[in-house]
Amino acid sequence: MTSTSNKLSGAAISEFLASRRSTRAFLPDPIPQELLDQILTDALTAPSWSNTRPFKIAVASGSRRDRISAEFGSRWASISHNLSRGWRGKLAIALTRRGLPTSNRLVAKKYHSDLKPASMRLGAELFGTLGIARDDRKARDAWWATNYDFYGAPTELFIYVHKSLGIFAASDAGLMMENLALSAHAHGLGTCMQGAVSIWDDVVRREFTISKNYRLLCGLAIGYPREAKDNTFKAHRIAPEEMLFEPKSN
Ligand SMILES: Cc1cc2nc3c(=O)[nH]c(=O)nc-3n(C[C@H](O)[C@H](O)[C@H](O)COP(=O)(O)O)c2cc1C
Repeated sequence: MTSTSNKLSGAAISEFLASRRSTRAFLPDPIPQELLDQILTDALTAPSWSNTRPFKIAVASGSRRDRISAEFGSRWASISHNLSRGWRGKLAIALTRRGLPTSNRLVAKKYHSDLKPASMRLGAELFGTLGIARDDRKARDAWWATNYDFYGAPTELFIYVHKSLGIFAASDAGLMMENLALSAHAHGLGTCMQGAVSIWDDVVRREFTISKNYRLLCGLAIGYPREAKDNTFKAHRIAPEEMLFEPKSN
């Protein structure tokens, strides 16, 4: 076999893959440009539908990152405040529309019953680690707000996919993002993919020239991990059998 991958043992790769975890607390230290370039180059070694690479990235750092974060934070504060005020709050939302999704509404939807148990388990275990009580809405909302500070990361990547390829564009972006996350991990950086930031695309478009042929898929926070309880959390990983369909007996 003429593979070059055999420089690393299979066991080392399995261990490395298992060691990647979402980072939810970052140091503010900027990422050196050469390092970010390398990580983006590594991301592009992922396979792609007809090699089209149907995605693009808006890289937000420095004041651009801060402006986006501030507007997201303000919209979240408004919607979370109004949602806690019963019908008066709902009326205020309907009248002002402040904080309502302007792009991807899926994030605000309830989970299908097939998926709900896993998402509830994640919430319970993550909030358990952070010491946030299940019924403490204020604390949960305050934690969710940290999504909009990108967990303190110096850089947020906004991942856009080409509308014309539908699910295949999202699949390609996912492959690219995972390569990116693994390369970052190998270089001592942490990442957190963020569906939470996909709801207010208009804010990102104010800062970048983005073709209408692309729509926002999600964000990806990247930077150096900080020592924090949030980064000790280890989400449950299902066993392979749970992923497999039952074969029919014939
Ligand atoms: C597309 C996508 C969107 C995600 N959105 C969020 C998010 O908005 N906030 C967050 O804290 N984590 C988010 N995550 C991270 C997942 O919660 C995490 O990957 C999962 O719980 C497994 O944990 P691990 O990455 O540590 O293995 C997202 C992950 C993916 C793939």
